[in-house]
Amino acid sequence: MVPENIDLVPPSRSVVEQASVPDPEALGERAGQDPLAFWAAEAAELEWSEPWEQVLDDSAAPFFTWFPGGRTNIVRNAVDRHLAGPRKNKLALIWVSEDGKETRTYSFHALNRQVTQMANVLKAMGVGKGDIVTIYLPRIPEIWFAMLACAKIGAVHSVVFGGYSADALRDRIDASESKLVITADGSWINGSVFPMKDVIDEAIRFSPTVENLVVVRRTGSEVTMDPLRDHWYGDLTSLPIAKGPCPTEPMAAEDPLFLLYTSGSTGQPKAIVHAHGGYQVGTYATTKYVFDIRDEDRYWCTADPGWVTGHSYGLYGPLLNGATSFMFEGGPTFPYPNRWWSLIEYYGISIFYTAPTAIRSLMRFGKAWPNRHDLSSLRLLGSVGEPINPEAWHWFHEVIGGGECPIMDTWWQTETGMFQICPQPVMPLKPGSAGRPFYGQEVAVLDEQGNEVPTGAEGMLVLKHPWPAMFRGLYHDDQRYIDTYWSKYPGYYLTGDSARIDEDGYVWIVGRADDVIKVSGHRIGTAEVEAAMDSHPDVVEAAVVGLPHEVKGQSIHAYAVLRPGANGSQELAEAIRLHVAQHLSPIAKPDGIDFVESLPKTRSGKIMRRVLKAQALGEDVGDLSTMDTEA
Ligand code: WTA
Repeated sequence: MVPENIDLVPPSRSVVEQASVPDPEALGERAGQDPLAFWAAEAAELEWSEPWEQVLDDSAAPFFTWFPGGRTNIVRNAVDRHLAGPRKNKLALIWVSEDGKETRTYSFHALNRQVTQMANVLKAMGVGKGDIVTIYLPRIPEIWFAMLACAKIGAVHSVVFGGYSADALRDRIDASESKLVITADGSWINGSVFPMKDVIDEAIRFSPTVENLVVVRRTGSEVTMDPLRDHWYGDLTSLPIAKGPCPTEPMAAEDPLFLLYTSGSTGQPKAIVHAHGGYQVGTYATTKYVFDIRDEDRYWCTADPGWVTGHSYGLYGPLLNGATSFMFEGGPTFPYPNRWWSLIEYYGISIFYTAPTAIRSLMRFGKAWPNRHDLSSLRLLGSVGEPINPEAWHWFHEVIGGGECPIMDTWWQTETGMFQICPQPVMPLKPGSAGRPFYGQEVAVLDEQGNEVPTGAEGMLVLKHPWPAMFRGLYHDDQRYIDTYWSKYPGYYLTGDSARIDEDGYVWIVGRADDVIKVSGHRIGTAEVEAAMDSHPDVVEAAVVGLPHEVKGQSIHAYAVLRPGANGSQELAEAIRLHVAQHLSPIAKPDGIDFVESLPKTRSGKIMRRVLKAQALGEDVGDLSTMDTEA
């Protein structure tokens, strides 16, 4: 919604005084006039072993290539280039264990040693350029080493979030034909062990491709090791194969860097492909400008490395800028709801990037918890994943940021790889709006016919220009790439979000306009949850919708048609919820399940989720003329 009377929040004096870019309007104007010159200048701040011949080649649009002819490697810029200068002994990573008893720190020099060691191990196990390695690890430094080690030798990483279950993991490993998987014996979740190794064993039991499983010791839990397939990482590193230098492979700018599976409207999750060259330029520049990141900063992105935020703004963006990052293994409320605040105080965090759902859940515990801590090291805050409601925005701004720290509400997607709509530190902010398009980008809000809607009206959000960190397609599925993103409004990238633009050009994201649900900022496709429900023996057919939820943003509500004779009891509902947790992920568990006789469908057999949603919300169900009369 665009509120009637918006309280514009001007930047504090200290922000203005320190700003690296005091006049983002002027820079935005220059970048707007010549986006390619802007991006070429950003790219030139990084190292390339061969210069690019062209900034952008759009001759085969929507298959765009950025910096064709150029050769580079994101690791060269994220790690190697810092070793030659004063950052060599600067901390790249500070990590704290969930129980707080363990701290591990890595300078850039030490990070390079770890990455080199893992890269040597991967190479010795036969991993080479273009091979896809699946990584299923907890929030521990090894997940960074693994991702960087893959990139260093030209392999492609495919990280699967540590909370996914065996079925979801198997689908992703099989689809990417990984020969090697990196995992851990277990992970810590609120004081207990999640058996990662057991989950992976189940996922790869009949895998036609996986030859080796590298296991990092984390929890010390008892696990079964297959003597032919499984290797303790700790054992491998003591072998001669792990020793010695490992060159960083010069890659073509367009060579793939990673795959990341994400949910879409329909069907199986899609593998988003990102490439070395453009991705490094986009994440480098956005981190630099939007977080105004500096050498003296201590930066904390709370997102798990398993999500795109953990890739672009956890790992790569900060390292490309030579920043010091903080990583915490645990969650915000264990053992008490002051956990994050105490870490910010203790480690002197200056930039803190998190999600609205976390802010809302911490808000519920009251400000007494953060008020016990000195949070004055903070200078800038960030939010991502879903719209932030003004109430949460103000709490974050006042209680956490002391009224002094600007909040960068950054809108972007797994597909975009980098921020597309976001404020700049010195920009006056409107709580609840993600600000304006990033340098070089323009957006529009369109109606069904492709006309721009009047100022302030809601419509489909599209991006008008290509950008360097854009995804290079869907793995092995060009047609789906074209159909999903580029067909509805030719020439424009369809975001799938609904939005409004106000008279100052500030964008207000309403939410997904498709069948994607954002639960606590996690992206979940209705089709995946429905498929998991359908696999329960008592369910004939299921439909799920996202309903507004005070803390999670959206919650999943399900409808199920049961097999004849099944008893629609509370116990069965609970069993189906558990089934979804086990077969997909606990984050995809429906909050409620209604048992129904049938589901409303169109004549062509598509489930009309819009009708179910309207009914659940007690709203007018609208035009039902295309509905199947039998249903
Ligand atoms: C939503 C996460 C409002 C949006 C980086 C988008 C947001 C989807 C914001 C992508 C924001 C992300 N304000 N909505 N600042 N950031 N979204 O791929 O609906 O997990 O389409 O990427 O998150 O989710 P994804």
